[in-house]
Amino acid sequence: MCKIGACAVIAAAGSGRRMGGVSKPNIKLLGKTLFEYVLEAFDSSNVSEIVVVCSEDNEESLRALAVGTKKPISFTRGGVTRAESVRNGVEASAKSSTLICVHDCARPFVTPEMINETLDAAYKHGAACVSSPVTDTIKQKDAVTGFVSTPERATLFAVQTPQCFKKSLYLQALNMLAESISSFTDETSLLEELGVEVCYIQRSETNMKLTAVDDVPIAEILMKRKGGDL
Ligand code: C5P
Repeated sequence: MCKIGACAVIAAAGSGRRMGGVSKPNIKLLGKTLFEYVLEAFDSSNVSEIVVVCSEDNEESLRALAVGTKKPISFTRGGVTRAESVRNGVEASAKSSTLICVHDCARPFVTPEMINETLDAAYKHGAACVSSPVTDTIKQKDAVTGFVSTPERATLFAVQTPQCFKKSLYLQALNMLAESISSFTDETSLLEELGVEVCYIQRSETNMKLTAVDDVPIAEILMKRKGGDL
């Protein structure tokens, strides 16, 4: 078990545009918000502190939901893009937190075991991330020529969160790529630009991200099954 200081950075500052403008962390599944599911998992994990990256619109409600959290918790404001929000979260972490664990608040199925396994792997390898095989055939279109190619499906996988890494590596990548961080949709891509070899972990449980309104009833059924009610 990794014993060094680790900070959870919960990215919860999205606009919720594809959710009809509703703040995603405040969406409820079986009467509990996505934020509470995520916070409970991190509060029971091996991280030593939690930084919540929130927006002007949801800060008050998230602070109210976090009362009673056992671990040290703080709030910071997000940026225009996810990458900027994560950067603000990392910058708000304690000096003693040498590992960072980034998680999308839109993924409520995260568990303490998933977090701890990813933290341990990042401690050993420098960076680690939860991923899953893709089940659709994926196409890639060249932006200039319009040529469409089909990468072999067996070589593809989808990258999720938690994404954990040594803070020193992230800060090096940030230093190198500060001008362009907004174009990175996750931290593994940023770290790979620096040459870091990320350890990708596949786990069997669902770790879906709620993106659109139609995801809510599906997630609710999966949450019921997870709780043993189905
Ligand atoms: O937009 P996407 O689905 O990639 O968002 C993933 C997570 O990042 C969500 O939990 C969202 O709240 C967060 N996010 C953020 N700041 C932004 C955009 C997204 O914290 N500017």
